Amino acid sequence: MDLISACERAMTPVGLDDMVADLATMSPNATAVGSPGISVATRLLILLICVLLAAWSHTDKKTVPGPSFCLGLGPLLSYVRFIWTGIGTASNYYNNKYGDIVRVWINGEETLVLSRASAVHHVLKNGNYTSRFGSKQGLSCIGMNKRGIIFNNNVELWKKIRTYFSKALTGPGLQQTVEVSVSATQTHLDDLDGLGHVDVLSLLRCTVVNISNRLFLDVPVSEKELLLKILKYFDTWQTVLIKPDVYFKFDWIHQRHKTAAQELQDAIESLVEQKRRDMEQADKLDNINFTAELIFAQNHGELSAENVRQCVLEVVIAAPDTLSISLFFMLLLLKQNPDVELQLLQGIDTVVGERQLQNGDLQKLQVLESFINECLRFHPVVDFTMRRALSDDIIDGYRVPKGTNIILNTGRMHRTEFFLKANEFSLENFEKNAPRRYFQPFGSGPRSCVGKHIAMVMMKSILVTLLSQYSVCPHEGLTLDCLPQTNNLSQQPVEHQQEADHLSMRFLPRQRGSWQTL
Ligand code: HEM
Repeated sequence: MDLISACERAMTPVGLDDMVADLATMSPNATAVGSPGISVATRLLILLICVLLAAWSHTDKKTVPGPSFCLGLGPLLSYVRFIWTGIGTASNYYNNKYGDIVRVWINGEETLVLSRASAVHHVLKNGNYTSRFGSKQGLSCIGMNKRGIIFNNNVELWKKIRTYFSKALTGPGLQQTVEVSVSATQTHLDDLDGLGHVDVLSLLRCTVVNISNRLFLDVPVSEKELLLKILKYFDTWQTVLIKPDVYFKFDWIHQRHKTAAQELQDAIESLVEQKRRDMEQADKLDNINFTAELIFAQNHGELSAENVRQCVLEVVIAAPDTLSISLFFMLLLLKQNPDVELQLLQGIDTVVGERQLQNGDLQKLQVLESFINECLRFHPVVDFTMRRALSDDIIDGYRVPKGTNIILNTGRMHRTEFFLKANEFSLENFEKNAPRRYFQPFGSGPRSCVGKHIAMVMMKSILVTLLSQYSVCPHEGLTLDCLPQTNNLSQQPVEHQQEADHLSMRFLPRQRGSWQTL
């Protein structure tokens, strides 16, 4: 978008200007019919007062706070900050500097960064924001442009695709999740080579890939190979998401990203083909899972082959990207808060005891629920979401033109509003139920996380299975504060070779019931 026109369309608060305009343009006839008793002098006086008030309101609060345009330097610098430090880090920077509603520019496009609960709530519940923003070329490069669900901006198609996800991630699909998650976690724990240096991130990621495959696909998969491709794909996704078009003119860069994305797409395509063959050869189809439903939809001409592949790809990458890292942060926070660990284990002992976790136990594990919520609040993996205004709107008094990019900085909102001990890790923050508008780890409304229920069930099942058998000990001195992290598309630990060893943890077997380590 043209920078100058972006500046000219700056967002202004709505108020008296409109009233003045209305009064000024009101036809004498209309007034005469509507208010016969008001004289011309009174009308002029009202008009004058309105003009004065409008002028005052203009000087008081003219535009959304943010860096100034300054001949285009403002847009350039804010864009460079987003590219350089990552979307999450830059959003926090601007909210801390200018307040909870800020206007910046990404790729020349006006972008609002919101961390005020009322504004966030307005966007989340409103059907006017069911689209996201991102570079078209970048999204095409990773197969997400008008495909799949996560960044699909063709609203009609997205709605249709979302019904397949909703069906798979709620209802009967959700019922099997406890059993599948417990058994996948147990298998991966039993397969550990040793307990001294466990690569926990890899263990958690392989476990969730296994769970996702069993629930949504159900074909033989080499988890480690698939995981490597998922990690490369994720890296490409956050690299290309807000890059300018010129970036994609350089073939050698473009090709590198295309190849990384293509590798995962090819791998998923062959898994879908395998599923198709299995379905053709089966005498009777008992378990019609997510992929099977999509294949039927393709057979009936409702979805294209590319869309089926992209949907399967996205359901497979959704959990390793979010859930495994969340669990990793949770294990660190648990060791930093031994009193919470004790409460958690006592709760598991009372509700589950020596047997395996069952569906009915989940709602009884209150401390576990509060612990997970507090971790998602205090140190989230996904601490913002990206939306786009589909038509003109007003947010907290500011006029928002159609096409404006929106970043909902929920991570910052969780630390600045409502919670009593907002900057501390404390289960007291969830002693009472937090109202939805103040606690949005999964977003809410029509474009919220469609996997939010299954994610909670998976996290509970994995934590109970792991913690009831092992005490998990990070390296001496490793805390969340000193863990090197990046915050681009999501908050992640840095996993370069030199840090990787530091991230491994020691597993000490526990004596069940007494919660002492053996
Ligand atoms: C701790 C785990 C997770 C967290 C914190 C999380 C968080 C989120 C958030 C914040 C969004 C954006 C919502 C918005 O724009 O309002 C989202 C979207 C989404 N999530 Fe999750 N998620 C998690 C796990 C999962 C899992 C396990 C799945 C599926 C198996 C999943 C599938 C999706 C999908 C498909 C979307 C896009 C929805 C759409 O655009 O319509 N998520 N998630």
